[in-house]
Amino acid sequence: MNDLVHSISPATHTQSNIYQLRRQTIVVPSPYQVQILDVAAGTGKVSQELRQLGFTNIDALDPSGSMLAQARKKNLYNNYICDFLSEYTMPARNAFYDCITTSGGFGLGHIPADALHDLIRLTKKGGYIIIAMREEYIYMSCYNDILEPLMRKLENEQKWQMVQRTVIQEYAFNKTGVLYIFEVS
Ligand SMILES: C[S@@+](CC[C@H](N)C(=O)[O-])C[C@H]1O[C@@H](n2cnc3c(N)ncnc32)[C@H](O)[C@@H]1O
Repeated sequence: MNDLVHSISPATHTQSNIYQLRRQTIVVPSPYQVQILDVAAGTGKVSQELRQLGFTNIDALDPSGSMLAQARKKNLYNNYICDFLSEYTMPARNAFYDCITTSGGFGLGHIPADALHDLIRLTKKGGYIIIAMREEYIYMSCYNDILEPLMRKLENEQKWQMVQRTVIQEYAFNKTGVLYIFEVS
């Protein structure tokens, strides 16, 4: 989020641009204000990284109570939600989060492709959804011809916009990964 402010700051020469910067500065929250949901949080590795960057308002969602218990011991999250990501997850938190992260949550027998709808449902308009996963899983039966086509369909329906799709070498276990970033429309 701070990067967004920095990226617009060079263009602050005229009055209108200064106004533009002020407007952006008001709407762009600082790290400690950003509400984050870490889906498939596991033992909390994502939160450990985010905390080092100054983010502190982070909730965890994971169906495994024992994984969440390990994250809780390290005091990594504000709320620990023991649940699967599905259409029934946290209806009271629709459009609540500024950002949803999920690292390693899309994998064999894990989050179903359909749950992309729920990532969007739980994120504010203008918020971000960040998905990191092994590249090979995209082509396995649970996601092949399903996951990326659904991502494109949701973009065509203007539910979100893809900001980035980056292939990461050595993502995990000597495997290539893919990092997706979407902005919710
Ligand atoms: C490979 S671990 C990743 C944990 C953590 N994000 C990390 O990077 O270390 C995958 C996690 O996905 C969780 N998971 C599996 N199915 C899920 C679902 N439908 N919704 C949310 N989490 C799920 C598992 O309980 C497990 O903790």
